[in-house]
Amino acid sequence: MKILVLNGPNLNLLGRREPEIYGRLTLDQIRQRVGELALELKVETEFFQSNHEGELIDRLHQADTDSDGVVFNPGAFTHYSIALRDAVAAISVPVVEVHLSNIYARESFRHHSVTAPEAAGQISGLGLHSYLLGLRAAVEMASGRGKKVE
Ligand code: DQA
Repeated sequence: MKILVLNGPNLNLLGRREPEIYGRLTLDQIRQRVGELALELKVETEFFQSNHEGELIDRLHQADTDSDGVVFNPGAFTHYSIALRDAVAAISVPVVEVHLSNIYARESFRHHSVTAPEAAGQISGLGLHSYLLGLRAAVEMASGRGKKVE
């Protein structure tokens, strides 16, 4: 089983980007921790980060045939990219939306996710654990071949 861990804009700067909000772990350190859990769960993971909407859309399309599930942090695109929402809706593998910060406890423009209604679910505010729990959920759903957790 293979799970794609997809990261959107500015997440390449984790570690030095507003650490009081996003923590001090770099994306590489998150990749390592997620990789350790993947080993435990006996699944393969692939990490991909892009600052470009189109690249994220292309990678989601590809995931429909080369991955069994997706853990997706769309970054700021969460709040306004209908194109990414449509891409999540277009694929049949389960997508778990994750956020490091609690988007509901921040500025009001972050309270709304246009992508989450098309995702299987959303995990927000748990830092690294958003990714770890997201991976567990994606694996569970991919095993059941559905978009819903039992
Ligand atoms: C984020 C939350 C978004 O509002 C923000 O634009 C990000 C990161 C998070 O992981 O907390 O870039 O997705």
